[in-house]
Amino acid sequence: ATILLLNGPNLNRLGTREPERYGRTTLDDILSRLTQHCQSVSATLEHLQTNAEHEMIERIHAAADAGVAGIVINPAAWTHTSIALRDAMLASAIPFVEVHISNIHAREPFRQHSYFSDIAIGSIVGVGALGYELGLFALFQHLGIQRL
Ligand code: DQA
Repeated sequence: ATILLLNGPNLNRLGTREPERYGRTTLDDILSRLTQHCQSVSATLEHLQTNAEHEMIERIHAAADAGVAGIVINPAAWTHTSIALRDAMLASAIPFVEVHISNIHAREPFRQHSYFSDIAIGSIVGVGALGYELGLFALFQHLGIQRL
């Protein structure tokens, strides 16, 4: 199975971006952890981080065409703004888990609505970079992929 990890705007700055809020773990660290977890179940991890909304939308279309089994996505600020990205996820019909490093429910009111939560398998928020691993495990469970 192929699993796709998607990270939205500014997440390329993880590790140095507001570390008191988002932690010191870099995107490279997260990518290597998830790659290992995928390898351990003979799955393949692909990844895109982009600051350009159209690139992420086109990556989701390509994932649907390529038969990607599941997506772990942190849409970052697009969480709260992007009907277009929501529509791309709906059109792809690929099951996905939504991840947020910070607890969006404990922050500004404009972060408390997500365009993804109601169409996701589930959402993991507020547990830092660990959320990506938990999200991946939730996806494995949904897809019937056994972890040893
Ligand atoms: C975020 C939360 C969003 O509100 C914010 O715009 C981000 C990161 C998180 O992972 O906590 O860029 O998705």
